[in-house]
Amino acid sequence: MNVRVSFPRKIFIKTYGCQMNVRDSERLVATLIDYGHEIVDTEDVADVYILNTCSVREQAEIKAIGKAGHLLRKKLRRSGVLLGIVGCMAENLAENLFKLNSGIDFIVGPRRIGELPAILTSENVNRVVLLGEANSQDITEAMHDFSRGNVCASVSIMQGCNMRCSYCIVPKTRGVETYRPMESIVAECEILAKRGVKEIMLLGQIVNNYGQNAVEFVNNRSPFVRLLERVDNIPGLERIRYMSPHPKGFRKDLIGAHCRLKKLCPSVHLPVQSGSDRILGAMRRPYTRARVLSIVGALRTSVPDISLTTDVIVGYPGETEEDFQATVDLLNGVKFNMAFIFKYSPRAGTFSATLPDSVSESEKDRRNKVLLDIVQRHSIEHNKMMVGRVVEVLVEGHAKRGENKFCGCTKHGDKVIFDGQVTLIGKFANIKITDFAISVLYGELLST
Ligand code: 5AD
Ligand code: SF4
Repeated sequence: MNVRVSFPRKIFIKTYGCQMNVRDSERLVATLIDYGHEIVDTEDVADVYILNTCSVREQAEIKAIGKAGHLLRKKLRRSGVLLGIVGCMAENLAENLFKLNSGIDFIVGPRRIGELPAILTSENVNRVVLLGEANSQDITEAMHDFSRGNVCASVSIMQGCNMRCSYCIVPKTRGVETYRPMESIVAECEILAKRGVKEIMLLGQIVNNYGQNAVEFVNNRSPFVRLLERVDNIPGLERIRYMSPHPKGFRKDLIGAHCRLKKLCPSVHLPVQSGSDRILGAMRRPYTRARVLSIVGALRTSVPDISLTTDVIVGYPGETEEDFQATVDLLNGVKFNMAFIFKYSPRAGTFSATLPDSVSESEKDRRNKVLLDIVQRHSIEHNKMMVGRVVEVLVEGHAKRGENKFCGCTKHGDKVIFDGQVTLIGKFANIKITDFAISVLYGELLST
């Protein structure tokens, strides 16, 4: 591509929300740089502010609207500065955002972010609104930003979601499922491997739905599993992860892939949302607690030390103490390595927002804390067990704090911090675990 714009801009991007959003921002950064713009880390030197937003819970929107207000005040003190809201909240609130913040210059939904660099090449950007489906295949899909290292990369394999979970805003913000052609995903992974990327995360709203009705099943292997097999064969790549699968399509072929494919990491994020069949039904989640337990059992039979993480919502409309206890039981029974616990947040436009938000805020807080305590206990138990072991860590870069501190992950997804040197970045290091906190292990470098 490499279009040189006549007035390069200094662009500040802040990203909220999930890994899909992080990936969207990364593509945006890479494309903007390709157009000749500059990405800056500080608001004060920027002449374009972009907030890539999330709508999944009300709190995420409140945060982004607050930040947009703060940036508007900065913008008013300087001339010619642009402020844009992109991503899921842009799609969800659309033109209403102009009423909330009169200084907004562009509103771009997640499916249209690829068009933004071209918009920013024109001098006058005035109340641009780009929402809904993209008009053409998004050619920015394969763009990557290596400015912060190239050890791990995310590759988006699909967009949108065809499920209709009663609480979820995503089908509204990201639309129906569309799948990238397998060849194009594999080609992107091959390029990444040639650039030195060692670990790839395949991303999608429901990755195991990849290619349904569009790509063939071969020998009972789903398109997603066939994609994993293709990526597993790419020389130079060492690790493959994926996020997030749905319990509904988590079949034998995917469990088998965890045994067969050497590069597929022994770690699965399996969002269960609730341990109560009654609540799962109300949420329109098409599986039962027994099904979740059978997937977990099958995964652990195939890969005994597999690391499992999940998402849970507490306080869904009508969730009784008995329903909640069923979730407590599920978490106690499965012992997930990590779980993200969310308090139910009604989202206008979803089915559940038409139901009374019957669980009080204080009760949601209590349930949230009970589950967090369980998760923390399991996490500490796991981390304690790791002390004294030697693990293989893919070194990603500098740790946030500490001059000679470096960080990386094990194939199970445990984050490890240790004393090291820059030359280790991108390499595998053997680290002896010596200590831990709730969500991190500390260790000593033994060898590479
Ligand atoms: N309220 C609370 N949590 C939600 N999630 C999705 N929608 C809502 C909502 N309305 C959670 C789910 C999902 C994660 C990304 O966010 O647990 O897996
Ligand atoms: Fe991601 Fe969903 Fe938030 Fe959109 S609404 S950024 S898809 S978590």
